Amino acid sequence: MCGIVGYIGKNEATPILMEGLEKLEYRGYDSAGVAVIVDDKIKIKKCKGRLKNLEKKLEKEKLPGNIGIGHTRWATHGEPSDTNSHPHFNKSGTLAVVHNGIIENYIYIKEWLESLGYEFQSDTDTEVIAHLLDYNYDGDLIEAVSKSIDKIEGSYALGVISEIEPDKLVAIRKDSPLIVGLGEGENFIASDIPAILNHTRKIYMLEDRELVILSKDGVEIKTLEGMPVEKEVYNITWDAESAEKGGYEHFMIKEIYEQPKAIRDTMNSRIMKDSDDIVIDDINLTAEDLKNINRVFIVACGTAYHAGMVGKYVIEKLARIPVEVDIASEFRYRNPLIDENTLLIIISQSGETADTLSALRLAKKKNCRVIAVTNVVGSSASREADDVLYTWAGPEIAVASTKAYTTQLISMYILALYFARLNGEMEVEEYRLIRDEMLELPDKVNKLLEDKEELQKFANNNFGHMDMFYIGRGLDGAVSLEGALKLKEISYIHAEAYAAGELKHGPIALIDEDIPVIALATQNELLDKMISNIKEVVTRGAKVISFTLEGNTDVGKVSDQVIYMPKTISILTPVLSVIPLQLLSYYVAVHRGCDVDKPKNLAKSVTVE
Ligand code: F6R
Repeated sequence: MCGIVGYIGKNEATPILMEGLEKLEYRGYDSAGVAVIVDDKIKIKKCKGRLKNLEKKLEKEKLPGNIGIGHTRWATHGEPSDTNSHPHFNKSGTLAVVHNGIIENYIYIKEWLESLGYEFQSDTDTEVIAHLLDYNYDGDLIEAVSKSIDKIEGSYALGVISEIEPDKLVAIRKDSPLIVGLGEGENFIASDIPAILNHTRKIYMLEDRELVILSKDGVEIKTLEGMPVEKEVYNITWDAESAEKGGYEHFMIKEIYEQPKAIRDTMNSRIMKDSDDIVIDDINLTAEDLKNINRVFIVACGTAYHAGMVGKYVIEKLARIPVEVDIASEFRYRNPLIDENTLLIIISQSGETADTLSALRLAKKKNCRVIAVTNVVGSSASREADDVLYTWAGPEIAVASTKAYTTQLISMYILALYFARLNGEMEVEEYRLIRDEMLELPDKVNKLLEDKEELQKFANNNFGHMDMFYIGRGLDGAVSLEGALKLKEISYIHAEAYAAGELKHGPIALIDEDIPVIALATQNELLDKMISNIKEVVTRGAKVISFTLEGNTDVGKVSDQVIYMPKTISILTPVLSVIPLQLLSYYVAVHRGCDVDKPKNLAKSVTVE
C-alpha cells in the first residue's frame, strides 16, 4: 500500500525523502513523488513507475529545501499515471498533500467542490483533500486540516505542507499507519519505521485522529478539539541493518534464512528447557477467564490466515476448546455469533491490515476478549487488543511472508500449550515432550535450509509450467495452501492446494503430465492414505515431488523426487514442511526472472479494504 515520508529540519529534505521512500518500496507501489518548499515556493516532482524514474527527474531539476513530503502510490482510484501520483496540490499550488488510505465519500465532496468552481486534474480520491484544504484555508494550516478532516470519511494518513506557512508540516491519521520520528533540529513522519531509522530511533506512535504539527525544533500533538496529547516515546532497538539485504540477492531469501533465529527468538523466555512454566508477559488471561470462554475465533488474512488454520488444529487438539478460523474480510460482514464468552485471536504480521483491524474492532464492540498476534510493536493491532503476543521475527520486508508465518505458527503452539495448561487439559509430561520438540525446531530448520539441491533441480525442470497442484491431509492440507500461495504470488504460476482426499471429487480431472504435483506427507497416521493419493496422480501422468519425514521411504518409492525432513511430532511438522516450499517458490520465481521481493499488484501492508 502507499508509503508516506515527511521531513522538516536542518538538512536538505529531498535526499531524506527519497531514502525513506526507498525503504518503503516493500509496501508495493506504482508511482512516486515528492513536494519540497524551495525558496518559498512548493515544487512537486512525481511520475509513474519506479523510484528510479523519479530520481532521473530530480537529477534534471534539483529540489533544495528543508521541508518536504514524499509518497509511493499503490493505485486504488485512477490508473497509475504521472497525474494520479501524489503529492496533490490546490489550484494555486500553495499547498501539497500526500495520502495513504481511501476517502470513501470523495465523490460527494468532489461534486460539491466542483459546484464551487474547483477543477480536478486527477482521478484520485486524494485530490479532494487538496481542494478541501484550500477551501478551508484562512491563514491557518492547522485549522484547515481540522476542518477538512471533519468532512472526510474513510481511512487516511496525511502529510500536508503549505508555502504560506513554510515552518510546519501537519499530519494526521485514521485507520492507516503513520509514525513520527523525533530528531535533533529535525523531525519526520513516515508510514513505517525503517523509512527514518537511519536518522532517529525515537518514535511516537499516533492514535486515530491525533493532529501532529512538526517544526524543525519540536513536535506538538493535539486532539481535533485542540487538547494537547502527551505521548510515550518508543525507543527502537533493532537497527537499520536488519531491514537491509545483508549480502543476499533478495529480502525474501534473507528472511527465509533468518527463520531459525526468528523461531528461537519467538520461543525465547516463553518456553524454556528447564521450566514447566509458559511465560507470556503481555497476556493476562487467567484460568477463570478461560473457563468463561466457550469458543475461540482466529481471524486473519492471507498467510496469517493459513497460520490460523494450524492454530485451530492445535488449540482444539491440545486445549480441547472449539475454534473457528475466518478470513477477516468475510468475518466482519457475516454477523458472527460472538459475545463476551468468545475469545478472538487476530494474527497480523503488520498489525495494520484493514480487514483484520475491522474484525478486531467488531469483536471489541461485542465485548469479546481479543488477543493480537503481531510482529510490529506499537502497531494498531497491538494497541487495540486486550492482550498481545509478539512474534519476534524482526522486520519483514519482502512482500511474500516467510519468517512471519513460521513465527505465527510458533505463537499458535505457545497459545495452545498455554490454554491447555491453564484449563488442565494437559499433563506436565505431555507438555515437556512438546516443549522439548519445539526447542529443537530451529536446528531442524537450519538443516533443511542446507539441503537445497533437490529443490533447485525441481525449479530448473519445472519453472516453465503454468499450473501446479499442492496436496496434503490434515495439517499438511493447511501448509499446502501456504505453499501454493507462495508460488502464485511470486512466480505468477497458477497453483491450487487441495485436501488430498478431495481430488477424486473433481479436481483430479485436471491432472495430467503438464501439472507437477507437490505432495506433503508428514502426518504419519495418514501416510497410507496419502500414498494412495500420490499414486492416483502418478497414474494420471503427473510428476510428483513429495515432502515427508526421514524414514518414510514408501513415500519416496511412489514419487519422482522426494525431500526427507528431520523427524518431529505430527503437530509441529508445519514449521518444517513450509521451509522447502518457501525455497521451492523462491527458486522457481528466480528462474522465471520475477521481481521476487515486489510481486506485481501486491502490497506488503494492505491498509485498505
Ligand atoms: C502473503 C502475505 C499476505 C499477508 C496478508 C496479511 O505472503 O504476506 O497474504 O499475510 O496480507 O498481512 P498481515 O499479516 O500483515 O495482516
